[in-house]
Amino acid sequence: MTDIRRIVVTAPGAMELRVEEPAPLGPGEVRARSVTIGVCGSDTHALHGRHPLIPMPYFPGHEVTGVVTEVGEGVATVGVGARVTVEPTLPCWTCKQCQQGQENLCENLQFFGCGYLQGGMADEFVVRADRLHVIPDDLDDDAASLIEPLSTPVHAGRIAGPLDGKAVVIMGCGTIGLLMLAVARYDGVRRVVMTDPLPAKREIALRLGADAVVDATASDVVEQVREALGESADVVFDCVAIQSTIRAAIALATKGGTVAIVGVPAADVTIPTIVLQDNQIRIQGCATYVPEDYAKSIAMLQAGAVKAGDFVTAHFPLTQARDAFDASAGGGEIKVLIHP
Ligand SMILES: NC(=O)c1ccc[n+]([C@@H]2O[C@H](COP(=O)([O-])OP(=O)(O)OC[C@H]3O[C@@H](n4cnc5c(N)ncnc54)[C@H](O)[C@@H]3O)[C@@H](O)[C@H]2O)c1
Ligand SMILES: [Zn+2]
Ligand SMILES: [Zn+2]
Repeated sequence: MTDIRRIVVTAPGAMELRVEEPAPLGPGEVRARSVTIGVCGSDTHALHGRHPLIPMPYFPGHEVTGVVTEVGEGVATVGVGARVTVEPTLPCWTCKQCQQGQENLCENLQFFGCGYLQGGMADEFVVRADRLHVIPDDLDDDAASLIEPLSTPVHAGRIAGPLDGKAVVIMGCGTIGLLMLAVARYDGVRRVVMTDPLPAKREIALRLGADAVVDATASDVVEQVREALGESADVVFDCVAIQSTIRAAIALATKGGTVAIVGVPAADVTIPTIVLQDNQIRIQGCATYVPEDYAKSIAMLQAGAVKAGDFVTAHFPLTQARDAFDASAGGGEIKVLIHP
């Protein structure tokens, strides 16, 4: 077999294109040629050594779609030629959480493309067949690349919801925040206000259906968001998760309301526990997704509730992965895709 190319982050800020032998294919596994690999906020944070859960060396590529080229012994769910996307959680299937259908919370969880010894940012990848979802024919490659990223806000909306008729705030107008907006609209929220320090991102949020946006750098951001919302927030989705956003989120939540932590915090924060207790605030951590979230994500894309043209804004070859990471972190793009 011919060698394959793989992106490896060897140390904070240092990335190389490695040439190596293809991984062996075990029973129950599938080999696929990578077609699109999305660059995620988690990837750019990890590149710069700012992701708390990803050690070096780092083999990126959890947002990957591909075409199956070989199936291992005993694989009956997909065949050669199938277009697939990966659900990158790698559960043990034996722990308490896995047995309760919460494999995203597996007590022994590994994560393809995040801290695992393999990711999809390569010419091809090998993964267990049970981690694959077949891409429907009516979704093109760009739309399919959004199945995984959209599944995170779908999951967050489900566990922090129901959202129907609710007043919602979303902090951060990056890819995750904007997809969270799509979920909020799809689920029928009454009103949604978003924050971001970047005017261009706020502009996109307005274009994609936010009722109002507020500059996150304003000293009175809480007052401005409350005013724009017209009431306290039933649910606040913090898609940034730093000290200032978590504090603002708690201040904005209605009594009995929910603050959903969707962003991966780079550091611990302090929170006003008295407000939490007295206002009976629920802090809801949100960790990836399970298959039903993938199903809703696919249905939303098929229904046109998320349009690939609004989100996929840049494409790079694998040889320019570094440029792709820089573009993704630069603030000017939404979803950046790499194509081997
Ligand atoms: N919970 C999960 O399972 C999960 C899954 C995927 C990604 N994430 C996390 O979600 C977060 C967002 O991901 P992304 O891909 O959208 O990243 P991104 O970098 O594209 O977007 C972040 C946005 O937040 C904005 N921002 C920065 N400071 C802000 C502030 N104080 N107030 C409001 N907005 C601010 C930035 O300008 C940017 O637009 C990341 O932390 C990522 O690691 C979590
Ligand atoms: Zn991601
Ligand atoms: Zn488990």
